[in-house]
Amino acid sequence: MLQTRVDSGLDGVIVADTVMSEVDGEEGRLVVRGHNLQELVSSRGFEGVAALLWEGYAEGGGDEAAVRKGMADARVRAFADVPKLLAATAGLTPVEGLRVGLGMLPDSERLPHQYLVCGALPVFLAALLNARKKLSPIAPDPSLTTAQDLLRMIRGQRAGEVFEKGLDAYLATVADHGFNASTFTARVVASTHAGLISAVLAALCALKGPLHGGAPGPVLDMLDDIGEASRAEAWFDDAFAKGTTLMGFGHRIYKVRDPRADVLKNTVATLPSTAGRLAYAVEVERGAIAALRRHKPGRRLDTNVEYYTALLLEALDVPREAFTALFAVGRAAGWCAHVFEQEKGGRIIRPQSNYVGPRPS
Ligand code: ACO
Repeated sequence: MLQTRVDSGLDGVIVADTVMSEVDGEEGRLVVRGHNLQELVSSRGFEGVAALLWEGYAEGGGDEAAVRKGMADARVRAFADVPKLLAATAGLTPVEGLRVGLGMLPDSERLPHQYLVCGALPVFLAALLNARKKLSPIAPDPSLTTAQDLLRMIRGQRAGEVFEKGLDAYLATVADHGFNASTFTARVVASTHAGLISAVLAALCALKGPLHGGAPGPVLDMLDDIGEASRAEAWFDDAFAKGTTLMGFGHRIYKVRDPRADVLKNTVATLPSTAGRLAYAVEVERGAIAALRRHKPGRRLDTNVEYYTALLLEALDVPREAFTALFAVGRAAGWCAHVFEQEKGGRIIRPQSNYVGPRPS
């Protein structure tokens, strides 16, 4: 049998064909089922992107209205589980709480599992955030979109249209992104025929890490710590002297700027009272890139999605400890799509390792 040794991070290894999305790291381009990201986000909401991703694979695929209804009905179904969720998650962070919540969903549920998951995540997240503020959970409103309803459940009342559109653009932007660590995890679990809920739960666990979906909270911590743009250069030089990784920068595939960063940056600019914060963030970003060029010459490191995710979610008044959990609400659409694709045509994913330990004498 042909044996090939690969980089420990599977750098450059192609492990499957997919119709879902293409990440072009040299051109800085993301294509989702034939659509450029920028065009997709300006023409479809989150449910529209989910419908596109699921087209040809699952009930509701290709039909935005059906997906919207499926997710809305599932939010109502999920609300019944909220007391059980809250009883089991005291003291946990929001993403840890979602981990428990997904774990509670039964494989035997008759509702299509993509709806079950995509309905539960926003309802559970809002309830977990309200519980942290000692507030009662707010029931979902199935007449709304996921973004509208999630913001309403978090804030206690409808947010203005510009905020709802901002969150919708975020969820659509992060819905799918090639074979990132969490999506690959979902596909490994799906390849064993463990089912969609188990695959999505595993993906959430992979997303949680600071090298993947856990970066935007620390981006805000960094912006707070730098304090003013004039301090950025010294702050970054000190950070590199200590070996600190700059959150929101660098990417395995993108060797140029992540195209999602600009979509989200433009979305921040549509929100009221963000001009000052945005101008500061742009200055700090410039300083970070210059520092990366100075301290890591030749590595081609640039801004990734998480930098402006942090700015956008802050402007939407989402608490920073909820950023990773909110990322999961959007990315769940892509995880489900990849599970369908894996289940339809894939074999069990089972690579080999090279044993380097001692041998019996
Ligand atoms: N800050 C400082 N140095 C960096 C950064 C960074 N953000 N990213 C990469 N480097 C350096 C590494 O130290 C390494 O330097 P070396 O050659 O001197 O050892 C070189 O660039 C290559 O980096 P790797 O870690 O090998 O790159 P890899 O592809 O394995 O990692 C990753 C990619 C994890 C995203 C990395 O760039 C990183 O940790 N970034 C910060 C965390 C972050 O923002 N994550 C979100 C990514 S987007 C997403 O997942 C949704």
